[in-house]
Amino acid sequence: MSDSLVCVKDFEKHAFSVLPRNALDYYRSGAGAEETLVHNRRAFSKFKIRPRCLRNVSRRDLSTMVLGQRVEIPVGISPTAMQRMAHPEGECANARAAQAMGTIYTLSTIATSSIEEVAEAAPYGIKWFQLYIYKDREVTKRLVERAEKAGFKALVLTVDTPMFGLRLADIRNKFVLPPHLKFANFMGDKATGINTTDTGSGLNNYVNRLFDQSLEWKDVKWLQSFTKLPIVVKGVLTAEDALIAADLGVAAILVSNHGARQVDGTPASIEALPEIVKAVGDRVEIYLDGGITDGTDVYKALALGAKMVFIGRPALWGLAHSGEEGVKKILTILKTELDYALAITGCATIKDISKEMVVPQEYYSKL
Ligand code: LAC
Repeated sequence: MSDSLVCVKDFEKHAFSVLPRNALDYYRSGAGAEETLVHNRRAFSKFKIRPRCLRNVSRRDLSTMVLGQRVEIPVGISPTAMQRMAHPEGECANARAAQAMGTIYTLSTIATSSIEEVAEAAPYGIKWFQLYIYKDREVTKRLVERAEKAGFKALVLTVDTPMFGLRLADIRNKFVLPPHLKFANFMGDKATGINTTDTGSGLNNYVNRLFDQSLEWKDVKWLQSFTKLPIVVKGVLTAEDALIAADLGVAAILVSNHGARQVDGTPASIEALPEIVKAVGDRVEIYLDGGITDGTDVYKALALGAKMVFIGRPALWGLAHSGEEGVKKILTILKTELDYALAITGCATIKDISKEMVVPQEYYSKL
């Protein structure tokens, strides 16, 4: 049956038909009226590809180097929470798929599989750990130590979440994590505080109770004081913040509007990318997530200066379909689409995607 699913949107449609309401709404939703959610995808159309011809593309290579490590495709897995709602093996299956495809898997702090379980499931894959900072800083310190010990290679510090956005369906559904699951990196209330709610989204209540809203940029220094792991700052949308992050010596910036889940009305990630590349592109590695649905989206992001892109929801749709196999299919689809885009636009390697090859649509109306 999955032979009839040939693109990310097919898997999305399938997931919409099989996932329970509570889980689907949580994964699918954006903040507020969801204008940015729609825009995250559509904004890729604002950029056009200028293909080059007759450039010998008979031998192609989609690999690239990210934080000093080789990845086979410039598409990794972004952190998304609670993946066992999509498939019983959740994060472990997702990480195994990334390992099999030679790319990066990012584990969420609020995952339904623990750091150690994921390390055991995908011992050879490149794994990064996404960090939320709890009011109790010792909690965060212990997570970092465990990630280091388990062989995770970078910390992805999410900086756009003093609170989680208002996702209306979650409020209506009184979203909670089903009782057979918990936040597997924790014990006690931090593990199971997400299983109940009196009113509104249980996740918003959990986060408002436990996450540290007082975070400032100086806390990146606090993190650097006890870890040697490279820090990827996730959730930057402005040149101003990108400059602060680069001055603090972070290794990379993940340009992201958090899957349009934080505040409606932000630009699409792809729209924010150029100003950040312009501000700090020669000082830190830059990645992007948000709205990637097709290999040409990946191509455009790379041409605009991203070294790598990450997918969140598409991997969840793959998981909902068939666990590890489903995520492999999603990554294979994007890989194939990117390979075709490369070949047909005259690029044999990722480095050949130069910035002249993608222009804003207005370029053509101004000619
Ligand atoms: C969210 C958090 C978990 O967007 O990143 O729901």
